[in-house]
Amino acid sequence: MRKIYMDLAITFDRHSSLPLHQQLYEELRQVILSGRLLPRQKVPSTRSMAKSLGISRTTVTQSYDQLLSEGYLETIAGSGTYVCAQLPDDLLHSDSMAVEPNSTPLPIQLSHYGDCLSQTPFTLQPSLDLPISFRYGQPALQHFPIALWRKLLSRYCMAASDWLDYTTDFQGYRPLRQAIARYLGRARAVQCDPEQIIMTNGTQQALDLVMRLLINPGDGIAIEDPGYLSARRVFLSHQAKLFPVPVDESGLIVEKLTDLASDSLRLVYVTPSHQFPTGAILSLARRLELLAWAQQTKALILEDDYDSEYRYGERPIPALQGLDCHHSVIYVGTFSKVLFPSLRMGYLVVPQPLVPLLAQAKWLSDRQLPTLEQQVLTEFIEAGHLESHIRKMRSHYDQLRQTLVQALKSHFGDLVDIFGETAGIHVMVKLHTPWSDAEVIERAVQVGVGLMSAQPHYFSPDDQGEFIFGYGDLNEEQISAGIACLAQALGNRSFK
Ligand SMILES: Cc1ncc(COP(=O)(O)O)c(C=O)c1O
Repeated sequence: MRKIYMDLAITFDRHSSLPLHQQLYEELRQVILSGRLLPRQKVPSTRSMAKSLGISRTTVTQSYDQLLSEGYLETIAGSGTYVCAQLPDDLLHSDSMAVEPNSTPLPIQLSHYGDCLSQTPFTLQPSLDLPISFRYGQPALQHFPIALWRKLLSRYCMAASDWLDYTTDFQGYRPLRQAIARYLGRARAVQCDPEQIIMTNGTQQALDLVMRLLINPGDGIAIEDPGYLSARRVFLSHQAKLFPVPVDESGLIVEKLTDLASDSLRLVYVTPSHQFPTGAILSLARRLELLAWAQQTKALILEDDYDSEYRYGERPIPALQGLDCHHSVIYVGTFSKVLFPSLRMGYLVVPQPLVPLLAQAKWLSDRQLPTLEQQVLTEFIEAGHLESHIRKMRSHYDQLRQTLVQALKSHFGDLVDIFGETAGIHVMVKLHTPWSDAEVIERAVQVGVGLMSAQPHYFSPDDQGEFIFGYGDLNEEQISAGIACLAQALGNRSFK
C-alpha cells in the first residue's frame, strides 16, 4: 500500500494559505482526473494515507468526505473506498479544471501532415505464422553470405574508429557513392557521377525526401494502377493529388498519362523494370514515349528500380535514367532485395541542381546512415561480392520461379494466369475462383498457406482474384507443397 502513495506523488505546500485538507483534496482530484488512480480502483484507507503522508487522520477524512460528496469516490460497505466508475462529467469538461496540461487528454492540434496521416491510418500487421507463406518482399536471407559480412564488419570495426563520429559527408560515404556509381553504370546503364548520389534509408526515405523537396499539397503525381502501396502512402502523406494510370502487359500505358490534364502534374512514379505488382516490363517504345512526355511537360519521372537485378532469360533493358538526356529522371535504388531489407541502404541519383537540397533534407531528417555499414558495403561491392551474390541468387531464384510456375500450371491449368514471371522475386497470379479474395486467403490459411491479395495496390480496391506470390525465401519443396495444398483448399478444377 505504501508504494501506491509513493506513486501518487502527493505534495503539500506548507506555506500555502490553503488548509491542508483542501490541498489534499485538490491533489487527489488531480490524481483521479489524470488517470493515475483509475475508476473502480481502491484508494488507501484514511488511516494508512495519514500515516504515509505524516498528517492527521482528520485531515485525510475531511478531504475524502469532500471527494465522496462530489462524486469522485464512493464507499462500499465492508470493503473500502473506491474511485467512482463514472466521474462527474461537468467537472471533466470544466474550463476551470486545474489539471496539469501534460496529464490530461487534451485534444492535440495536428499539422497538415499529422491530419493527413490520421485520415488515412494504416497498421503494420505481422504476417501470420504459417508453415508456408508466399508473402511478398522477402529475399532468400538464408543464402546471404553472413560469415563474409560479419568478417568485414569486424575488420572495419577494429581497423579504425573514424566510423564512430558524425560524418561530414552529407550525401553519404563518398567511397560508397563511387562504388555505386560504377556498379550502376555496369549493371543498369545509369549515367551518373558519385556527386549525384544521395544515400538514403532505403527507398522509403528516398521517396519521402523527394516529396518534401518537390511536392506542395495539391500538386499532381501520376501513379501506376495497380502500383506500390507504400509509395502511394508517402505521396498522400504530403497531400499530393494522385492520378492513377492503368498498366498492361507492357507496363504503364503512357498514352493514358498523356491524356491527363498535365499542367498540374509535377511527377510520375514508375517501376519500369518490373512493374509492382504486375511484373510488367515497360517496353522500350513506351520508355521513349514517357521521356518525351516528361521533356515536353517539364514533369519529372521518379524511377523506382527496386529488383531489376533479377532478370531471367532476357537481357535487361537499361534504366530509364540511362536513356534520359534532359535531366527528367530521379532514380531510386535499394539494397533491400539484393542484400537484406534491414540494412536500410538505398540511394537517389538526381539531377545535379537538386543535390545540395536533398543532402540538407537528409541531414535534417536523420543526419546520416551508419558509417560502419557503409564502409562494409563499399568493400562488398568493390571486391565483387555483390555481383557474385547477385549471380548466385539469380540462378537460385530462377529455379524457384520455374518450380512455382510449373506447380501453378499443373495444379490449376487454365484457371490461373501468371504475370511478371521474367523478373524479380515475385509473380502476380490471377486465380479464377468463385470466391472473394478474402475467402481465398481464408481457405489458404486453413491449409497452412499464407497468401497476399494484390487488391490494396489498386487505386480503387476491388475483388480482382489477383494475388502476389513472393517466392524468395521459400525452397522448392515448400513451393510445390504450398501450391498443392492451395489447390486442395480451393478445390482446383471443381469450380471450372
Ligand atoms: C516497388 C518497391 N520499391 C521499393 C521497395 C524497397 O523498399 P525499401 O528500400 O524501403 O526497403 C519495395 C519493397 O518491397 C518495393 O516493392
